[in-house]
Amino acid sequence: MSRRKILYEGKAKILYEGPEPGTLVQYFKDDATAYNAEKKAVIDGKGALNNRLSEFFMRGLTAIGVPNHFIKRLNMREQLIRQVEIIPLEVIVRNFAAGSLGKRLGIEEGTQLPRPIVEFCYKDDSLGDPLVSEEHIIAFGWASQQDLDDMVALALRVNDFLSGVMLAVGIRLVDFKIEIGRVWDGDYQRLIVADEISPDSCRLWDIETGRKLDKDVFRRDLGDLADAYTEVARRLGVLPKGGNGENPRPRLVN
Ligand code: TMP
Repeated sequence: MSRRKILYEGKAKILYEGPEPGTLVQYFKDDATAYNAEKKAVIDGKGALNNRLSEFFMRGLTAIGVPNHFIKRLNMREQLIRQVEIIPLEVIVRNFAAGSLGKRLGIEEGTQLPRPIVEFCYKDDSLGDPLVSEEHIIAFGWASQQDLDDMVALALRVNDFLSGVMLAVGIRLVDFKIEIGRVWDGDYQRLIVADEISPDSCRLWDIETGRKLDKDVFRRDLGDLADAYTEVARRLGVLPKGGNGENPRPRLVN
């Protein structure tokens, strides 16, 4: 692995040069961070779970015609993806109030929103990924009006798909974040879903008990993060089947 060229290393993933032009290898780390990396831990096995879960969601999106970067899984921690030009925005969709929306507008956690709400944050760790408006995005040239319309349409399709998949296994999709990238087919540009879709970037609550099954378990010290992610993977039927300790249950190692 060290012989490959690292193109980007983030908090939870590493991107390596891919085997063909226009491809990358996405490696899922076990590192968990919260509050702009003020809180950190290594959760043994988290990377393998998120690799599988992101594959599962991206394959589902492909099956319903939502374009995304996933090509194929390579091994427990890596997947081959299409190289994209990432748009420097986090696209958040909310179905129920939680997190920063609750704080910002004083809405009680868990309140159902009148309709899915799409928000954009500018991707800049040094600024803490601030919430931005469409005016900012267009004025500063991060995306065009057409891009914005396409991004909202993509995000709402992802929301409908993920909400349904989760509902079928007794989980409420409270909110999630996606990233979107540009790909070029000749002179023609398209926007596709990129990055990852996993419990690191969603809020997932058990419908019966309200138990949190996402990164809030880590952010708010609510229990064992690995248990929560394993439960999501188990319900969706995407836990690797290998025996002989090949896929030990993830556990917190520091
Ligand atoms: P927020 O309530 O903290 O704004 O987060 C909304 C959703 O977006 C939640 O599911 C967590 C996800 N998210 C990320 O995955 N990464 C981020 O940097 C931010 C700000 C949110």
